[in-house]
Amino acid sequence: MMPKKVAVFRKEHFNAAHRLNNPNWSDEKNERVYGKCNNYNYHGHNYDLIVQVTGEIDPETGYVMDMKVLSDLIKTEVLDKFDHKNLNLDTEEFKDLNPSAEHIAIVIYDKLIKKIDSSFDLKIRLYETERNFVEYPVG
Ligand code: NI
Repeated sequence: MMPKKVAVFRKEHFNAAHRLNNPNWSDEKNERVYGKCNNYNYHGHNYDLIVQVTGEIDPETGYVMDMKVLSDLIKTEVLDKFDHKNLNLDTEEFKDLNPSAEHIAIVIYDKLIKKIDSSFDLKIRLYETERNFVEYPVG
């Protein structure tokens, strides 16, 4: 029997503050482009994070990946670093990187991809609000 690929998902949650601002633009342009997300004194979001791992089922365990391992990985690599933090001020990752949902998703991907088996495909979906979410990589 050909090994079957299955996608497994872990949903997590974190709260973080940020401010979107392009230092090369005027205050007026920043406010026009980013609206409330440009608020000078920052603001919070309740981020929902969905981590998707796709791979072949291990015939011995019946798992693609042990979800406890995945959960622990997300905790140490993402939640411990970003939960209840001001992304702009409290993290190295966003000191010089505008913490848009797009950039946050890529940063999370880059952290997790280093820690999972190279035979797996990884995808990150990040909800900044219930209605606004991003996915990386595409396709
Ligand atoms: Ni915002």
